[in-house]
Amino acid sequence: MTSNQSSQLVIFGGTGDLALRKLQPALYKLQREGLLDDVCAIIALGRGDSSDEEYRQLIKEKMREFLPAHFWDEQHWQAFSAKLHFISLDVNTLKDYHCLADAIHRHPNSAVTFYLATSSTLYTSICRNLHSIGIVNTDSRVVLEKPLGHDLASCTEINHEVLQVFPEGNIFRIDHYLGKETVQNLLVLRFGNALFGPLWNSQYIDNIQITVAEDIGVEGRGDFYAKTGALRDMVQNHILQLLCLVAMEPPANLRADTIRDEKVKVLQALRPITADNVKAKTVRGQYTAGAVNAAPVAAFLDETGFEDSEYTETFVALQADVHNWRWEGTPFYLRTGKRLARRYSEIIVELKKHPFSLFEGDPNDLPNKLVIRLQPEENITLYKVNKKPGLGRQLKLEQVELNLDADLHDELQAHEAYERLLLDVLEGDQTLFMRRDEVEACWAWVDSIIDAWQNAGIKPKSYAAGTMGPNASLALPEKHGRSWHE
Ligand code: BG6
Repeated sequence: MTSNQSSQLVIFGGTGDLALRKLQPALYKLQREGLLDDVCAIIALGRGDSSDEEYRQLIKEKMREFLPAHFWDEQHWQAFSAKLHFISLDVNTLKDYHCLADAIHRHPNSAVTFYLATSSTLYTSICRNLHSIGIVNTDSRVVLEKPLGHDLASCTEINHEVLQVFPEGNIFRIDHYLGKETVQNLLVLRFGNALFGPLWNSQYIDNIQITVAEDIGVEGRGDFYAKTGALRDMVQNHILQLLCLVAMEPPANLRADTIRDEKVKVLQALRPITADNVKAKTVRGQYTAGAVNAAPVAAFLDETGFEDSEYTETFVALQADVHNWRWEGTPFYLRTGKRLARRYSEIIVELKKHPFSLFEGDPNDLPNKLVIRLQPEENITLYKVNKKPGLGRQLKLEQVELNLDADLHDELQAHEAYERLLLDVLEGDQTLFMRRDEVEACWAWVDSIIDAWQNAGIKPKSYAAGTMGPNASLALPEKHGRSWHE
């Protein structure tokens, strides 16, 4: 694709939840900022029978629902909606693709990006049909939503099929966590500040924690979730991506492949969790009835359609070990779950204490921690120990929080992860997207845990909705004299 070439975006799953909640609002916001001028058409595909006008009306309604009112602007909406088109298409029916081809040919010299916002079970069929109809060329790109497959075997097969149609350099495997501002800031924090570099290893870091806690349940995605569970839904992608960025070596430059090479090395260094250590290293949980944000909620098993789901975990906590020169001896505690006490995601880097303490006995003589908060707020805080002000003869300590943020917050609220990622796709920058070997390495590690759970017959332990998971998850760090940062 040349720099001034116009482009078109084709969205499979154009009436699905992702397109309505995230993709279309993100595209509208890019339009508002003048970043979508080169995109001449956004063609949404779905099974319904809407006209362009009806689809525009639907998007307008959803935009009003999902976009804060201050982003709304009639003039920008008019310019944006003029680009929106809808085509009814069954992804498995080749003849339906003729209408798509006709629509694409209305802008003969533009490059086309195909965004597959559907189940990954349909990716093979979509790619084959796009190829058969002859609408893929060397400028075409494809965006693949997660989860890519259900395990390593299915992921490898999908990758293989997609690669028959698109070269790796035109495939964008999305993980929206990589589009979050603070996640990108991680690289700058680590490699742009001389302060942290020398400490960033097992000699100084006691443990690292990654928590992605959600207060929502499965939100109408029961069928998908019952077959998926928290390990596949959140750890295989988002959490392992965060782990890679925290643990990787400094890349030699900022090229997409150089960064991805470093991430793959971390994944390769993950010590497998197998039947021998799965009990010690993992905790599976499933919520029972309880209260979240003071509202009563039902048990996972009582929500409709989940009869066979006693083995689906809605919570998982793990101890991951990165078996390499830098990290040997520093455990990475990972946890995520649905219907937890509150929604927050954070990375905690806990430093080791001095070998000898002058202030032993003072309850506030606590280790330094760097808290990287991804949501709901995005900020970075350093926990340090201070002298408690006062004239008392005995020195008293207190833990204080240093806010390390620049004043970024207006900026942050203005940009969602999908805006950054869509822009990168349109510009052809793959840095924040996963390469084939990365996704497959993630699956290989996760598959081993799932096999071990099955072989050892490990069922999820109950936790009441509105808590932070089963009690056993507290024991995971406590076994080694550590605790989760709350
Ligand atoms: C998705 C998962 O990838 O991420 C969902 O499939 C989850 O189950 C969502 O709710 C969380 O994203 P965020 O950005 O709200 O933390």
